[in-house]
Formats: sequence, C-alpha cells, structure tokens
Amino acid sequence: MAIKKIFTYPEPVLRQEARPITVFDEALKQLAADMGETMYDAPGVGLAANQIGVLKQIVVVDISKDEEKKEFIALVNPLISKGEGCVAGEEGCLSVLEYEAKVERFQKIHVEALDLDGKPLSFDAEDRFARIIQHEVDHLRGTLFIDHLSTLKRNLYKRKLKKILKARQ
Ligand code: NI
Repeated sequence: MAIKKIFTYPEPVLRQEARPITVFDEALKQLAADMGETMYDAPGVGLAANQIGVLKQIVVVDISKDEEKKEFIALVNPLISKGEGCVAGEEGCLSVLEYEAKVERFQKIHVEALDLDGKPLSFDAEDRFARIIQHEVDHLRGTLFIDHLSTLKRNLYKRKLKKILKARQ
C-alpha cells in the first residue's frame, strides 16, 4: 500500500473525465487499497481516482461505523441512476484547499456500480452517504463541488486561493 499525492484545484487532471474500467485485476485492487490509505491519511471520507492523477472510474467512500475500525467501499464505474429530494449541506474536498460551502444534492439516490471483481452492485444511499457518493461521482466527470456554487462565491474562492497559494510559495 502507498499513500499517493492528492492533486488540488486548479490542477488540470481534476477537470478531465475518467475512463470506464474494463480490467479487474490485482492492479485494480492495489489502486483501491492505495486510494483508501490516501483518503484516511488526508484525512477524508471519500476519494476519486482523478484526485491522485489516475483517470479511471473508481471512487472510495468511507463506511466506518466507528472510529476504531476504518472501513471503505470501492465503487467502479459508478452511476447515479435515480435521485430524489434536495438537501443543502456543507461540503469540502481534499482537492479544494481551505474551503467549505453549502451544496445542494439529492437526499436519496440509487447507485449502479461494479465491485473490484467486476460484480454488479445496485443500492440506495441516503443523506451523508448519498452526498459523498454524489461528490465523488462528480470528480470522475471532472466536476468539483465549487462548480455547484454561484459565480460570485466561486470567484471569491478563486481570489482566496490565490492568496493561499502565494503564502505557500
Ligand atoms: Ni472531493
């Protein structure tokens, strides 16, 4: 296992579309393991492959019931086939430095995906779990949570980011 570098906005790889996965081998399991380790190291509750510079349709999402036992699922080629309700909730992103904002998402979704062996998964997700999946699936399409904000808010963030990056030089 290895902790990977997480790319941050405005890195171009975050804007690219990830390609569907067709090979279910050891390398894919290794990628998922690395993504899980990278996510928990950050720490975060979800991670999409684009964020570590890999343009493949795979995301990992934390499903831990308690702090002691970390557990995550990997979703390959995930698709949100249904969505209902609309809730606003605070979001942040490991690829968006020092920023959180309220984003509207479906309250409940239906997810179709494959597991690491290529077996179909089909399930409903609600609330926080649904929010994380929507956020991560967005990443695979090159979309960031700041794209869901008003132009005004996004521009404010861009200005703030410039200052943050300048201070880090
Ligand atoms: Ni994110």
